[in-house]
Amino acid sequence: MRAVDIIRAKRDGEVLTPEAIGAFVRGVLDGTWADYQTSALLMAIVLRGMTPAETAVLTEAMLASGRRVDLSGLGVPTVGKHSTGGVGDKVSVVLAPLVAACGVTMAKMSGRGLGHTGGTLDKLESIPGFRVDLDVPRFLAVLRDVGCALIGQTADIAPADKVLYGLRDVTATIESIPLISASIMSKKLAEGSQALVLDVKCGRGAFMHAFDDAVALAQSLVAIGGAHGVPTEAVITGMDRPLGRAVGNALEIRECIETLAGHGPADLMAVVEAIGVRVLLLGGRASDPDAARALMRGTLASGAALERLRRMVVAQGGDPAVVDDPSRLAVALVVETVDAEADGVVSDLDAALVGQASVLLGAGREKKGDPVDAAAGIVIRAAVGQRVRRGQAILELHGPTPARVAAARPVARRAITIDGPIDETPLVRARVTTEGAIVAP
Ligand code: URA
Repeated sequence: MRAVDIIRAKRDGEVLTPEAIGAFVRGVLDGTWADYQTSALLMAIVLRGMTPAETAVLTEAMLASGRRVDLSGLGVPTVGKHSTGGVGDKVSVVLAPLVAACGVTMAKMSGRGLGHTGGTLDKLESIPGFRVDLDVPRFLAVLRDVGCALIGQTADIAPADKVLYGLRDVTATIESIPLISASIMSKKLAEGSQALVLDVKCGRGAFMHAFDDAVALAQSLVAIGGAHGVPTEAVITGMDRPLGRAVGNALEIRECIETLAGHGPADLMAVVEAIGVRVLLLGGRASDPDAARALMRGTLASGAALERLRRMVVAQGGDPAVVDDPSRLAVALVVETVDAEADGVVSDLDAALVGQASVLLGAGREKKGDPVDAAAGIVIRAAVGQRVRRGQAILELHGPTPARVAAARPVARRAITIDGPIDETPLVRARVTTEGAIVAP
């Protein structure tokens, strides 16, 4: 099957056969498709779309391009989690030890930050010594001992996605529900959990800005999971404002430790609980949402969740002393505030702009492979709804040099609105059930 015929078929709006999709993924892997041909087909898919059946075949081919981890030998309930990404989204670092302490094993391969969004691996690596590059036998050993492990993707997980994602990133072909679905689900299914809960973010700081697009993506992801025999649910959560009070790697780890110690900000806790409830129900550790919430709250209050984080840090080579004393985490050399210019109420903080400012400070990367600064980032001193006086700090900028902080300042300033209308849309917006129905969260 010639690449040019497959590209032409999709360009003209045809439905690709499973043989054509198989030939494409094989060609990407063995290098017989040139990058320009792969990119042309990706663009045709962005413009013409794919049916659910084509998306399922593409996912299957990408999944089969690599290894599938077998967690069945652990003999415990395993539920995976994925977020489509946002600003200040540290839910995985709180959730994994929390649900592990409640009896559900969470095996998670995470990503790095790209663009204005942060990545779990970068956050964890701000813990001195913490290793995210475990091989699969070591990953399984940590899961057996601790009940949770957060690592980077091993090279043999969905290798076709690595090639495709690299090209999509530089050819404006990320924004496609079929391509995003196949990319995410090929990797999540390869992790081998019995069930999956997805946090599909929606808003200015997310891939999907509109609620309807987030629902469509969630339904596509859920359908693929179900077709592979992995019950999958999605929770749609808002990403118009940063999640929690901290944005940036070490700053977010500090906030995770505070949250696991029972002092987390309300918005972060709302998302942790919304996802955690679904994890505990799918993992068979609670019979209804109220029981799941009570179990999580008890586990936080007893200190068992924080203790689980400590055990995970030890098992992955990190310094457990940071859990008791977060001041051991990296600290920025320059800390300056962005202050209110007038008395009023903070009515908005734009997540995308806060994310961009945090990248300018050094907390994120503009392009793959850039180093990140563990200490850099932003702390929200006055959250939306809070009344401030002129001169009072709203944001705290943490950077390595005065020049970096000066570059981030105007972007951070633009993120703030005082005395505008306050968007009261609930943070946890909806849930997509394993059958694809949209229900209240
Ligand atoms: N995350 C992924 O892993 N893949 C995409 O295509 C988009 C977000």
